[in-house]
Amino acid sequence: MTDRLAGTAALVTGASSGIGAATAKALAAEGAAVALLARRADRLADLKSEIESDGGIALAVTADVTDAGEVAAAVQRVVDELGRLDAVVNNAGLMRSGPAAEASLQDWDDMVAVNVRGVLYVARAALPHLVDAATSSPRGVADLVTIGSTGGWVARPNTAVYSLTKFGVNAFSEGIRQEMLGKRVRVGVVSPGTVDTEIFAHLAEPARAAVERQTAGMVKLRPEDIADAVLYMVTRDRRVAVNHMLVRAAEQTW
Ligand SMILES: NC(=O)c1ccc[n+]([C@@H]2O[C@H](COP(=O)([O-])OP(=O)(O)OC[C@H]3O[C@@H](n4cnc5c(N)ncnc54)[C@H](OP(=O)(O)O)[C@@H]3O)[C@@H](O)[C@H]2O)c1
Repeated sequence: MTDRLAGTAALVTGASSGIGAATAKALAAEGAAVALLARRADRLADLKSEIESDGGIALAVTADVTDAGEVAAAVQRVVDELGRLDAVVNNAGLMRSGPAAEASLQDWDDMVAVNVRGVLYVARAALPHLVDAATSSPRGVADLVTIGSTGGWVARPNTAVYSLTKFGVNAFSEGIRQEMLGKRVRVGVVSPGTVDTEIFAHLAEPARAAVERQTAGMVKLRPEDIADAVLYMVTRDRRVAVNHMLVRAAEQTW
């Protein structure tokens, strides 16, 4: 455990698995008190115990990012209990895939609800606290990081709506990056390629089998690889703003 983030508090959404869980552990290992937000309370409790047994500080906050009221209450609880909010990792997300002409509208609604509305609700609730933290932080800076995707750079068949949500995250982040200039809140996007997480297990057949065929033989990224990128972004000196990191699996063609 090192202490580059000692005295700071971070919130990670989608912390109950995959990239979010790995990122929460990485931030805690640098000394940040970390709020873990997701719907599955049992997973959050396990992660909180793991972080605490490694000497870190964690707070489990069960909430659904698609509910603006729950998000606002969750962010307020984090600030009340941890005393401040220096970094937010807007990571909660889901993917559904398949040809648009046959797609379920529910799948599209779910992706827009979590990947777009969820990201907006968290950003809206957190930004005033990030501005406050930047002025009082020993580090002199606060960070809003959103997890995008290679799908936010290149649109492909079967994931057109997922790409729509991730292209949107890039646009939103760039706009608020400029709004935050002078307030010492850095705004960045980490865009992963294919990462070995349960995101693919949540796909219905035949979409899951199609992804498996597409990624067969490719060495996938690990969640820790993306946590490393987030950590790099938020531990830079206040004079440095790393606004976008695209991290592909080395053998990934798209
Ligand atoms: N894996 C990849 O290849 C890949 C590639 C590019 C980008 N990404 C992005 O990385 C992010 C994390 O994905 P992952 O791969 O780590 O997937 P994952 O293991 O399935 O994790 C998704 C997380 O989002 C949370 N979540 C989903 N809906 C939620 C809701 N309504 N409210 C609160 N939390 C919610 C889940 O928690 P609960 O179910 O407990 O609520 C879970 O913690 C996503 O934004 C995804 O688009 C992933």
